[in-house]
Amino acid sequence: MVFFKPLNKPLRDWRGQRVWIVGASTGIGAALARQVAAQGALVALSARSRERLGETAAACGEAALIEPMDVTRAADYARVRDSLVARWGEIDLVVLNAGTYGAERAWELTDAGIRTTLETNLVGVMNGVGAVTPLFCERGAGAIAIVGSVAGYGGLPRSAVYGPSKAALINFAESLYLDLGPRGISVFLVSPGFVATPLTERNKFRMPALISAEQAAAAIVAGFARGKFEIHFPKRFTCVLRAMRWLPRRTYFALVRRLTGAQ
Ligand SMILES: NC(=O)c1ccc[n+]([C@@H]2O[C@H](COP(=O)([O-])OP(=O)(O)OC[C@H]3O[C@@H](n4cnc5c(N)ncnc54)[C@H](OP(=O)(O)O)[C@@H]3O)[C@@H](O)[C@H]2O)c1
Repeated sequence: MVFFKPLNKPLRDWRGQRVWIVGASTGIGAALARQVAAQGALVALSARSRERLGETAAACGEAALIEPMDVTRAADYARVRDSLVARWGEIDLVVLNAGTYGAERAWELTDAGIRTTLETNLVGVMNGVGAVTPLFCERGAGAIAIVGSVAGYGGLPRSAVYGPSKAALINFAESLYLDLGPRGISVFLVSPGFVATPLTERNKFRMPALISAEQAAAAIVAGFARGKFEIHFPKRFTCVLRAMRWLPRRTYFALVRRLTGAQ
């Protein structure tokens, strides 16, 4: 029945799939690279740190490609894309996972902090989409995965720039799905809860439902296999946050204050 048809073409067989993971030097991206490579994917690994990419590549096997780049530079994306097409012929999936987090509160905003977060988390993802969509549209195939966050669902304390950057990605992914779906291109939105990675290790508060990067990567792989538009995890946390979106603002604000203890 059409109603139950997955929104995206499920990705189940990783053998020979050409997967470009941006933000693959540590954390969720590195774990995802290891898991899909173990299932037979050819992986290209991008981030700024060549050294840490080398460590991920060593765990992915000999075929892993190291392609250092900075997501804030569109020219870097174009260079890596062209290098991968020259090597592989095509790219099947690009995972736009690079991100940064500063725990800014409303009274801590600085021009530099605002720009770094928005340029990495939002412009950096848009640059990636801009680099691959001409190829994918010409071919009428391909898949794009955008790593957002549950922090994009609604306003949170300590998230004055990060939250809006991820909220924009939700809207962006929805827009992409509408534009690209009819052209044969899959668009996945990945919305993790708290994951233990270098990004969160400086958090001083207790992170509810914290999972490991390996668990996060396994949830993403399982989500790809189901072909869902949004892959969110862990469900025990993300389902509560999704439900909170429907609450009246007064109740939402009171609940978030209570749950986070933030004043
Ligand atoms: N951990 C969580 O609890 C959590 C929750 C929700 C969403 N997320 C999202 O998940 C994604 C991965 O985060 P993570 O937790 O795995 O953190 P992480 O270990 O810090 O990974 C971030 C990745 O992004 C890369 N990166 C950062 N800035 C870049 C730039 N300008 N150009 C190229 N690469 C850049 C980093 O590599 P280099 O520093 O080498 O460039 C690294 O590979 C992020 O988008 C994050 O917002 C994480």
